[in-house]
Amino acid sequence: MTYADTYAAWKNDPEGFWMQAADAIDWDQKPSKALFDDNAPLYEWYNDGMVNTCYNAVDRHVENGRGDQAAIIYDSPVTDTKQTITYAELQTRVASLAGALAAKGVGKGDRVLIYMPMVPEALDAMLACARIGAVHSVVFGGFASHELAVRIDDAQPKCIIAASCGIEPNRVVHYKPLLDGALAEAKHSVDFCVIFQRDQEIAQLTEGRDVDWHAFQKGVAPAPCLAVEGNHPAYILYTSGTTGAPKGVVRPTGGHLVALNWTMKNIYNVDPGDVFWAASDVGWVVGHSYICYAPLIHGNTTIVFEGKPVGTPDAGTFWRVMSEHKVKSFFTAPTAFRAVKQQDPQGELAKQYDLSHLQAIYLAGERADPDTIEWLQDMTKLPIIDHWWQTETGYAIAANPVGLELLPVKLGSPTVPMPGYDVQILDDGGHPVPAGTLGAIAVKLPLPPGTLPTLWNAEERYLNSYLNAFPGYYETGDAGMIDEDGYLYIMARTDDVINVAGHRLSTGAMEEVLAGHKDVAECAVIGVSDALKGQMPLGFLCLNAGVTRDHSEIIKEVVTRVRDQIGPVAAFKLAVVVDRLPKTRSGKILRGVMVKIADGQDFKMPATIDDPAILDEVKTALQTLGYAK
Ligand code: COA
Ligand code: AMP
Repeated sequence: MTYADTYAAWKNDPEGFWMQAADAIDWDQKPSKALFDDNAPLYEWYNDGMVNTCYNAVDRHVENGRGDQAAIIYDSPVTDTKQTITYAELQTRVASLAGALAAKGVGKGDRVLIYMPMVPEALDAMLACARIGAVHSVVFGGFASHELAVRIDDAQPKCIIAASCGIEPNRVVHYKPLLDGALAEAKHSVDFCVIFQRDQEIAQLTEGRDVDWHAFQKGVAPAPCLAVEGNHPAYILYTSGTTGAPKGVVRPTGGHLVALNWTMKNIYNVDPGDVFWAASDVGWVVGHSYICYAPLIHGNTTIVFEGKPVGTPDAGTFWRVMSEHKVKSFFTAPTAFRAVKQQDPQGELAKQYDLSHLQAIYLAGERADPDTIEWLQDMTKLPIIDHWWQTETGYAIAANPVGLELLPVKLGSPTVPMPGYDVQILDDGGHPVPAGTLGAIAVKLPLPPGTLPTLWNAEERYLNSYLNAFPGYYETGDAGMIDEDGYLYIMARTDDVINVAGHRLSTGAMEEVLAGHKDVAECAVIGVSDALKGQMPLGFLCLNAGVTRDHSEIIKEVVTRVRDQIGPVAAFKLAVVVDRLPKTRSGKILRGVMVKIADGQDFKMPATIDDPAILDEVKTALQTLGYAK
């Protein structure tokens, strides 16, 4: 079927479309219908089906003869390790870990926080939770104690599974002290912590609270798969919103299974048995969906890569891994290839490897700049597919559905909406605008299966963040347009979320940290354009009256504060001191204008600006850092 036929089939009969897609999943009890809309505008899918995610991702493949196939290939240039784990081995590992968790009282609906680097044990932990119906919440290793504490207090986990350390190219990340710091700060306390000791660092266990990964599995009975309701939460994944409090995106079990499985053939064009690689991190949604769940649910081999696109050991690493493991479809963030291109502009390293198994490269997580796409196209002669999605949706809203048909690639566009998504561009009043006109990107409700039904413990926030602005629609938080051919263009965020090296960060959260410094009276953080990372955060500080200390000292202190409280991943390194911030007469900081000045773009002087002269001060301050040229 063509894309147009498939999209029309969904539009004409969404219920039939999603019930048919659900047939590819092994249910303990088939759902009687797909959509449950009794609570509209809150929608759920497959509520009366009973199913287990781990069974679908692991056990059924063993039963169907894939036991000896590689489920996971671990390739870690930072530790010089390679390991292959078959589906049969994965089943044993996961059942054992799940059994040990169950023996210590973890059961259906209990939350388990996972704080682990890119090692296969991170996937074991996620799948073990799924096996017993526990709800995991994975926290990215680049977040510091405070962010971890905030998530512990919100998710209230019964236990935490962590590794002793992570490995960054320039340092060992000591997870255990970060974990201890978080638990000391959090109001919620956990029953126990499971620590996976890595060879690179043996952490000191806290007596009475911490158990060793291997020791606590000794002698326990492996756990069977527990079927849960289709709308049972599979996991919570925190993501950045406008404020410092992260949003706990809830992923429902049934829809997650059905939708992810559908994407593997139709978008990524892989068949069971093929090798699929998403170079991301399990701490992000790409890692949840496309390192762990989707490839395994679909019977593929997934790669757990512990390294960076450059420097581990060189800019040829990606090509080496693709070649060595015969990767068919590869997925990463554009920033990763910008880093590769910077170091190997002629693609000399790529030429050293046999990439004959590779059929397409997929990019997401941030805007894919045409330069990077063209560079990849020239070098590989393969389709380079930009696709657009969010933590909230868990998979692509818009993509080029290569498994159905390869649509013509238009640079700057992630192509067309996927079945399930009726994407509309709306004006401020919520009215659809004509083709080619910029507006807020919204999706007509209901969102398809697998997308967030709500935020963890925060239904009001869910309604306010996503549904209230445009009744009947989900507000994506992105602005853009649709052209005459139905291609979508994503131009910018409409909120204070920025995207740094493919990582979604909240400027509001950084402002809260800056504002906590004793000398700071007022502040603003904006995202300025960066050739490598897409955007970089930049802080403006207004100091308290009477502060005479050296500004560079204060800047150093706030940079350290953000690193300590949010984490290195915030990449907050730039700040300037200004006397005043530009505001509207009602007191709203004009961040958008500041971004335009920093990026050297034209802007329209807002009619509501309080004092236009402040913009000159902002420009002068930015020029000291090499911006606003
Ligand atoms: N644990 C601890 N620290 C981490 C971390 C982790 N898992 N991931 C990143 N960090 C640290 C880095 O070490 C760095 O610290 P530093 O300030 O001491 O150098 C800081 O966080 C910023 O990291 P990053 O923004 O990733 O910059 P980088 O210079 O280390 O690497 C890229 C740049 C482009 C190579 C890298 O960002 C990259 O590979 N990005 C791809 C992103 C991605 O996969 N996104 C997922 C969506 S698909
Ligand atoms: P995250 O939730 O971390 O996946 O970030 C989602 C946000 O990243 C989106 O709302 C967009 O702002 C941005 N984004 C993701 N993919 C793309 C893309 N292909 N093009 C442009 N922006 C993207």
